[in-house]
This record gives sequence, structure tokens and C-alpha cells, in this order.
Amino acid sequence: MKTFLGLILVFIVFSFNVVESKNAMPAKRYKVNLDDDPMTRWVPLLENFDRSLLLDAIDSLLKQYVKNDELIALAEIIAHDLDKYISQPYADEMRGISKFYKAELGKVVLGNLAYDASAWNTVGKACTSIVTIDKTGGIIHGRNLDYGAGDELRTITTEVEFHRSGKTLFIGTTYVGYVGLLTAEKVNAFTISGDERDTGYLWENILSALTKGWPTMLMAREVITNAENFESAIEMLQKAKTIAPMYFIVGGVKPHEGAIIVRDRWGAINVTRMDDTYKWFVVETNYDPWNPPPSSDDRRDPAIKLMEEIGQNQMNPENLYKVLSTSPILNPTTTYTTVMSAKNTSLYHTMVRWDHPNEN
Ligand SMILES: *[C@@H]1O[C@H](CO)[C@@H](O)[C@H](O)[C@H]1NC(C)=O
Ligand SMILES: *[C@@H]1O[C@H](CO)[C@@H](O)[C@H](O)[C@H]1NC(C)=O
Repeated sequence: MKTFLGLILVFIVFSFNVVESKNAMPAKRYKVNLDDDPMTRWVPLLENFDRSLLLDAIDSLLKQYVKNDELIALAEIIAHDLDKYISQPYADEMRGISKFYKAELGKVVLGNLAYDASAWNTVGKACTSIVTIDKTGGIIHGRNLDYGAGDELRTITTEVEFHRSGKTLFIGTTYVGYVGLLTAEKVNAFTISGDERDTGYLWENILSALTKGWPTMLMAREVITNAENFESAIEMLQKAKTIAPMYFIVGGVKPHEGAIIVRDRWGAINVTRMDDTYKWFVVETNYDPWNPPPSSDDRRDPAIKLMEEIGQNQMNPENLYKVLSTSPILNPTTTYTTVMSAKNTSLYHTMVRWDHPNEN
């Protein structure tokens, strides 16, 4: 009898798992034409997503990271005086998104500031970025973007091709309604990804910080737009002032062009290059490269072990994706994985991680 019940239990658990197991799905790609008016240039993308998807994602992020009544006050102040706080074309792009969805401007702005408003708080956030070279020295850059409010963000994860004068200038992965970039490739020049770096910074200071520094994701888009190559991207990423600290991981087009830029709000405190570390790759999660990761969240050492097991001779985009798909590097908060290479635009590929492990 006991065995019989056990079998039934196993059967139930098994069928439950089969029903629940999901596959990673490629993110859909849309075009944004930079020659169009910033107010309308996102519309061809926005048309494909219901407004409730964006609003649910923002609400869920805000609930998790900040107290609501404080937020409403902040949203009103920023929206009332948007041009004082957000530079162009980003202010008008946010206005255009708010207008299209008939959503409060303050909410759209706060969604775009979520990273800067929450970089002091580790709840459910992580990220891994790796730049590596294959046996011929070709650069491959991969990243997991981990964030709380996972399912809402997975639903609105997209790839965006930014065009100017009929040409693709850069490609990025973002959430609908977010005009900044934390994952992007400048065609034939460099790739960049951002991983969270925590400090004791408090979100209440955002207003004053906004007048002195860039929201982090907008700064990254500035660099993608304006830098010409790997070294100029590093230089810009070192110098800019941002609201929140950040790790930027940059890949180039020549062998050994891989680096981790460790930033506080005012600029870089260190640049760790591929030659300073494992010689054929760099791995960044959310800790300074010269310190060991805490045992409570060590995704770095497992990633290094997997990289070394594969080896430079076997390294390719598929194997890098496998590293990023192995627990604990892939974790319950992973929203997407992107693999890219500045030299080969057609490689750029984002998978939405519906297949993430469940929380215990
Ligand atoms: C940055 O840190 C790395 C270790 O992660 C070290 O090898 C390198 O020399 C440092 N660079 C500078 C410019 O201090
Ligand atoms: C670029 O990437 C695509 C897609 O993975 C691949 O089929 C192609 O062979 C690559 N081209 C070069 C020159 O490596």
C-alpha cells in the first residue's frame, strides 16, 4: 500500500514537472530608427506589447525595491521637470512611451531609473558577464541578466536594432519601455554589458544625483552611441558620472580585448583586463575582481571551473551559452541570456530564460 501511494506521489510530482517545465525562447527583435522623432521612434516596437505588460512590470519592480508613497512623490517631481533631470533624446523617448501607452510619465521614468533606485539592495538580483576568445582569438561576449520581478520582465524582453541612415548602428537587449541599455553591441566595434555593483547608496538621494550624474542605463546607451572602438568605450565608461555604481564588461574585436570596468558613482576605480586574469577570458558577477566572492553567492568560481573544463580550443558561442545555462550561474532570477560578438553581427542572440531553476 505504501509503495502504491509512493508511486502515485512520484507520478503526480513527475507530471507536475512535465507540465511546469518550460523552454528558453528567443527574444523577438524590433527596429528603432534613430532618424525618426524620439517621441515616435519606439512605436513600431510598442505596438506589439499590451500596456498592461509594461505597467505590471514597473509596479512589480517598484513594489520590490522602494516604498510606494515615497515613489509617487518622486515620480511627480521628476515628471513635472523632466528636462531638468533627463537629457535628450531620452526625455522625449520616455514622453513618447508614456503617450503611446497613456501611462503616467512619472511611472515610465521610474521604470527607467529602477537600476539606480535599487543598486543599494541585493534582493533577487545578480548577473554574470563573460568575455572570452576562441582558438583563433575571436571574441565572444555572453551575459545573464538577473533581476527580481523575473516573469514580468521575461515577458517584455526584446532585442532592438537601432538604425541610422539605413544602417544598423548598434543592437541591444532591453525590456519594453526601457530606453537605456545594459547589454549591447556596436557593430564591428565593441560589446558591453552591465552587472550590478552594490554600495550603501540610498534611493532618496536620487533627485540630487540626477542633476549631477547619468542614470546608469542611459550612460551605457550614450557610450554605445558615441564610442568608436573598444578603447574609446573603456575611456568613456571610466570617466562618466553615474547615479549608481556598476561593473561594465567590454569586449572588442581583437584578441585579448576584454575588460571589466569597476565603477563607483564618480568614475572607474579599476580596469581589470583579460591579460590581468585568466589570459583567455574575464568573468564578472557582482564582486570586485580582486576580492573572493562571498560563499553565500559564489557564481564566479563555478563559472571559471566550467570555462577551464571547456578550454580555449573548444570555446564557441554554443559552449559559452552552456556555461551561462549551468546552475548556479543560471539561477531563479535570470531573465535572459545574450551571446554576442562585435565582429559578427549575425551572432547576436538573446534567449529569454523561461527555463530558469525554481526558487527552493
Ligand atoms: C585592477 O585590478 C586587477 C586585479 O583585478 C589588477 O591586476 C590590476 O593591476 C588593477 N589595475 C589597476 C590599473 O590598478
Ligand atoms: C557569424 O555567426 C553566424 C551565426 O552564428 C555563423 O553562422 C557565421 O558562420 C559566423 N560568421 C563568421 C565569419 O564567423
